[in-house]
Amino acid sequence: MEKTNVAIVGLGTVGTGVARLLLDHGDRTARHAGRTMWLKKAVVKDPTKPRDVDLPKGVLTDSLDDVIDDPEITVVAQLIGGLEPARTVMLRLLESGKDIVTANKALLAEHGPELFTRARELGRSIAFEAAVAGGIPIIANISQCLSANQLRSLEGILNGTSNFIVTQMDENGSSYEDVVREAQRLGYAEADPTMDVDGTDAAQKLAILAHLAFGATVDWSEIPRVGIDQLDPNDLKYAKELDYRIKLLAVANLAEDGLELSVGPTLVRVGTPLAEVRDAFNAIRVIGDAVGPVFYHGLGAGQMPTASAVVADMIDTAVGRTRLTFQTLEYFSIDQPPRAKLRDADTLVGRYYYRLPVANHPGTLAAIATVLAKHGISIASVIQHEKGDGSQHLDPVPLVIMTHEATEGAARAATSEIESLSAVTGPVVRLRVKD
Ligand code: NDP
Ligand code: HSE
Repeated sequence: MEKTNVAIVGLGTVGTGVARLLLDHGDRTARHAGRTMWLKKAVVKDPTKPRDVDLPKGVLTDSLDDVIDDPEITVVAQLIGGLEPARTVMLRLLESGKDIVTANKALLAEHGPELFTRARELGRSIAFEAAVAGGIPIIANISQCLSANQLRSLEGILNGTSNFIVTQMDENGSSYEDVVREAQRLGYAEADPTMDVDGTDAAQKLAILAHLAFGATVDWSEIPRVGIDQLDPNDLKYAKELDYRIKLLAVANLAEDGLELSVGPTLVRVGTPLAEVRDAFNAIRVIGDAVGPVFYHGLGAGQMPTASAVVADMIDTAVGRTRLTFQTLEYFSIDQPPRAKLRDADTLVGRYYYRLPVANHPGTLAAIATVLAKHGISIASVIQHEKGDGSQHLDPVPLVIMTHEATEGAARAATSEIESLSAVTGPVVRLRVKD
């Protein structure tokens, strides 16, 4: 049987899963690839560190040159996270004639045009299924399976760590700090978990998907984003009372006047598919003009789901499928497409949830309602509980308001005006609502 020699650079959570699939399931990968996928080298930073996989003698190395200088190795899974040295390593591997598979979305979101252009110049390919939504094959679906469509909308839960944290806080009352540590232990979180919880990782993935889905070149840092790092457990409680769950939602909608992109904690109606996505699962709902709505659901973080996507890309690369799509689709080209025009965020329309601490005295509700009315915002429902847990009279008291549809501009302006009212004793929480 023909043999393709492959290498892994970075043997952490994902790299270890990739090595396991290649070594423990060689028969399976050989059957699916029509050739043996032979792991020749695994490059790490610290070769003395204990590893969770039994590598054959001579495979582990701390020298990238062992891969670069070996012409027999043709496919490399580049699984170092972050920007540097990952970028330089990727360029060196491309220059030495290797085809690349990667899970590093931060690198692609930041340096995609440079890396993809260089790969094309060199006649090489970069496959990146694992970079978005872990085990869900969303890149292949958008790039290939839905290519007859003009996609209109894409919304999803793209960060497994955030979804795990929110689920655990919501269902088990776990503390934020404890669940972050647990997400790190389980291998879901980035080396710097700030990227997960502040919305950066989801925005980087959304920028990649928006490029594939809408042909738009987007600077991920310009996507309005809020993470779950400031989420107050009280909002999870009120959301539940209102029959919603809070999810870190990434949204891309194509409209006449541009592309709407955002990442933020959103109240999602219980019973809708996105509200049922728990723990490290991700989900993406895509609407195409021909196919209509399509829903994808699967594990978006973790060792084996991510390794599943990486090894599938390695097989596709070994058999030549990646090269074909990579050359024809021209993704992340420096020459085209133009930068996307992002819609003015103030014109976006949606419903809102407000929670505000207010003085418990006459006229408070009237003053707040007056501000909302002034900005054309209609109130859909109000919650103010009479007693605290100890049955004491609450003052200040949390007031929760759900609105009907309003523009983001009106909702934002109303928020700052409400915050300046003397009856409002602290910052206002405002979250989007999705029914
Ligand atoms: P880890 O931090 O667990 O592993 C990183 C690996 O890179 C380590 O083995 C480390 O070596 C190695 N490394 C770092 N610097 C160098 C270097 N200069 N030379 C050689 N090796 C180096 O990361 P993950 O496996 O979690 O993530 C890898 C990539 O996959 C990231 O881009 C991440 O965003 C992405 N990803 C991760 C997912 C997950 O669930 N974890 C899911 C989807 C994507 P050593 O072990 O010696 O320290
Ligand atoms: N840290 C990422 C997440 C890994 O939690 O979604 C998958 O990209």
